[in-house]
Amino acid sequence: MKLGKRMTAIAAMVPKSRCVADIGTDHAYLPVYLVAEGIAESAIAGDVHKGPYLSAVNTACGSGVGEKISVRLGDGLAVVCPGEADTAVIAGMGGTTIAGILAARPEVTTSFRRLVLQPMSGAGFLRRWLADNGWCIDDETLVVEDGILYEVIAAEPGSAPGYEFLMDEIGPVLWEKRHPLLKTHLTIMLERLNQVIVKMRLSTQAVNSPKYREYQKKVDQLEEKLTCL
Ligand SMILES: C[S@@+](CC[C@H](N)C(=O)[O-])C[C@H]1O[C@@H](n2cnc3c(N)ncnc32)[C@H](O)[C@@H]1O
Repeated sequence: MKLGKRMTAIAAMVPKSRCVADIGTDHAYLPVYLVAEGIAESAIAGDVHKGPYLSAVNTACGSGVGEKISVRLGDGLAVVCPGEADTAVIAGMGGTTIAGILAARPEVTTSFRRLVLQPMSGAGFLRRWLADNGWCIDDETLVVEDGILYEVIAAEPGSAPGYEFLMDEIGPVLWEKRHPLLKTHLTIMLERLNQVIVKMRLSTQAVNSPKYREYQKKVDQLEEKLTCL
């Protein structure tokens, strides 16, 4: 199976695993790929909705590795028992949803050796959640597919090194390794913030709010970071 650029970047962060749980699997392309390539011995493909679940069943059955993929219908990590999988992938959802899925089943979450996460938004929130809940981000990447920039975050159990608050938004590893797409990443963040600020300027109340000052401060900090690149 050939994966797109985003999925390939996610798969590249998955270490050799006994069992990978792909939560919110949709078509189950990722677990099929991981098992077919020998990266995972087996996989759990979980989805909360019937349509994606059925499409996952369909993909797994026709893949030639279907007997090694358990397709399950259910909410988040409710479909995984503690210790059943050593790696979890949660991709293509908002960062707050991903953090919510991890937080809802601590006994399952703490049994994983590695998390591979690809938030569509709220990456800063997710990074903070990881750091506050005993996960250390050990790898990150950026990838562009169809003109959209995606962030992929990998974490292992451990305490996160202290870093400035802004790194939750930027990505500490992306910054440390000066990822080739870092400038694009920061520029997009700045553009989004500036769009919000411009809208807030239409209201005196908004301009006098702490949120406005926070956003303005973030803009200044991001601009400063950009000068370092
Ligand atoms: C946008 S798709 C992403 C599919 C795939 N992971 C990817 O990255 O391409 C999101 C999938 O997550 C599923 N989903 C959303 N919330 C979920 C939850 N709480 N538990 C399990 N699956 C969920 C949806 O049904 C949908 O199939």
